[in-house]
Amino acid sequence: MPVTFSNGSVPTTVGSALLLTLMLGLGSAQAAEPISPAELATNEGIPYPAVIAHRGASYDAPESTAAAYKVARDLGADYLEMDLQRSKDGVLFALHDNNLQRTTDVATKFPERKDAPANEFTWAELRTLDAGSWFNAAYPDRARPGFVGLKIQSLDDIIKIAEGNPQHKPGLYIETKEPKQFPGIEADLKNKLLDKGWLSSAGSKLGKSNTGVGQGKGRVVLQTFEKDSLKELQKEMPNTPKILLLWVGAGSIEPKSTQTFAESGEPTKAAYYAKQEPKDAAEFEKWVDEAKSLGAIGTGPSAELTNHGDQSYTDLVKPEMNKLTHDKGLLVHVYTVDEPVDFKKVMDAGVDGIFTNRAAELLKFYNRFPSSNVKQLLADHGY
Ligand code: G3P
Ligand code: CA
Repeated sequence: MPVTFSNGSVPTTVGSALLLTLMLGLGSAQAAEPISPAELATNEGIPYPAVIAHRGASYDAPESTAAAYKVARDLGADYLEMDLQRSKDGVLFALHDNNLQRTTDVATKFPERKDAPANEFTWAELRTLDAGSWFNAAYPDRARPGFVGLKIQSLDDIIKIAEGNPQHKPGLYIETKEPKQFPGIEADLKNKLLDKGWLSSAGSKLGKSNTGVGQGKGRVVLQTFEKDSLKELQKEMPNTPKILLLWVGAGSIEPKSTQTFAESGEPTKAAYYAKQEPKDAAEFEKWVDEAKSLGAIGTGPSAELTNHGDQSYTDLVKPEMNKLTHDKGLLVHVYTVDEPVDFKKVMDAGVDGIFTNRAAELLKFYNRFPSSNVKQLLADHGY
């Protein structure tokens, strides 16, 4: 059966290939067996399915802090995910937003620069900020005194954390965030990873142990929404696996409707995104093809979450989309999924790994039971 999208169209190359096969009278027995997603992942040294701790264990501790990354590591997550930025004086560090307002006390410490992008601050300035207290205010039920005063983490800090537990050595899943703001960050990243020994590996396939991701071929995965950054990453680190992140909107997949959120009348962004879809099947396929041609080994599409919320976007992991991506020999790592109902939904749809804020829950879903629980780990680390 041809791959069809919700609008009933057939992706061009898949449709043509099928037609050609039928015209030639060739049965499926003679068609080349595509490599399975599990094999694709194994060949790259990437666990299947992969548990990617989004900004660390960021449901349980302030995102992108030592607490979040240490908990994710000790739970046994496969990857510590981070959004990479660069300080005014050249230090690489993890921060998601384009400024420091949401996750630090910048408004108190540097009121005149509170809206400035983080790259207008020196590393010494960034390290004065409290990156933990906001979490206690936002999530009182998960607040802990030990989160007060947590620091922004440099890439050096996160590498040290990733290497710090002999029982669990996660890999690093690094996004170049707003790369146009940081010209040359891809080369800086390469130099740092080289310096820290993270671009060399035994070159072996992933072993059976859950602890070995950070020591194998897939120890670093690079991710970006920007095709130009993907090109740079490919130029700088051709042998490191890369993922092109996908969403529907400006700079990524063209939407079917050009109506803005404000024009839509939808009550929430999540409701708006849920109604968005790619312009057509060919537009989706074009992005998958570009990911492959630029050297990516997979895509990182968005997902619509059952209970919506601020990380619920357009559903780009429909089964036919994942099949199309797999048929082109690429993996699918979906962002950002936190609840069992959605773990099941996206796994049933065929994804190969999940970005999650709740690594503990996802590990449980995969029957990978951590040797300790989140509260105990936080206490063990003094938080
Ligand atoms: O990197 C995957 C996912 O994190 C992309 O969304 O905005 O959370 O970086 P964002
Ligand atoms: Ca990210």
